[in-house]
Amino acid sequence: MDIFTAIRERKSVREFRDADIENAKLLSILEAARLSPSAKNMQAWKFVVVRDAATRKKLAEAANGQIFAGTAPVIIVACGTAPEYIMPCGQHAYAIDLSIACTHMVLEAWELGIGSCWLGAFNETEVKNILNIPKSVRVVAMIPFGYAAGPVPSTSRKRLDEIMSYDKYS
Ligand SMILES: Cc1cc2nc3c(=O)[nH]c(=O)nc-3n(C[C@H](O)[C@H](O)[C@H](O)COP(=O)(O)O)c2cc1C
Repeated sequence: MDIFTAIRERKSVREFRDADIENAKLLSILEAARLSPSAKNMQAWKFVVVRDAATRKKLAEAANGQIFAGTAPVIIVACGTAPEYIMPCGQHAYAIDLSIACTHMVLEAWELGIGSCWLGAFNETEVKNILNIPKSVRVVAMIPFGYAAGPVPSTSRKRLDEIMSYDKYS
């Protein structure tokens, strides 16, 4: 599958088959994160791979009760380990770095036939308590991964002319 096919066809999966993810595939997904670019190439990140069923259930509860997340065989919790660094443009690098790495993982997973759903709705303090994540570290995203239980409906997108302009902002 080429990259654009994965970008075009990827959808958020919220119903998972009761099937584990093969270790080799999981490692490919994590490798996609490892190879991601980051500001100053700091690679200030840690990915907690949660396979334990009881812990997944707790994480799903911490994700505002999004119970479906706990039914995925794997949840990857993406953490920024240097959240203090602000780039000259004024943006915190960690959220951007982790978002790129998560996007790489999601697309690589899709290529391997594995669905996922980015979770931004979660209580960070609860997640940190569940996984023993240090206070100084920020949790950017939790992503359940697994094989889709069935076909997934598409969502709509704005037209290109609504979201871009040439030469000047308009
Ligand atoms: C930053 C971010 C946070 C999101 N948080 C959640 C979430 O907490 N729960 C959920 O079910 N979906 C979540 N989503 C998935 C979006 O709802 C989904 O990507 C969007 O509706 C477009 O659908 P698609 O991914 O199928 O193309 C999130 C997506 C992003 C990028």
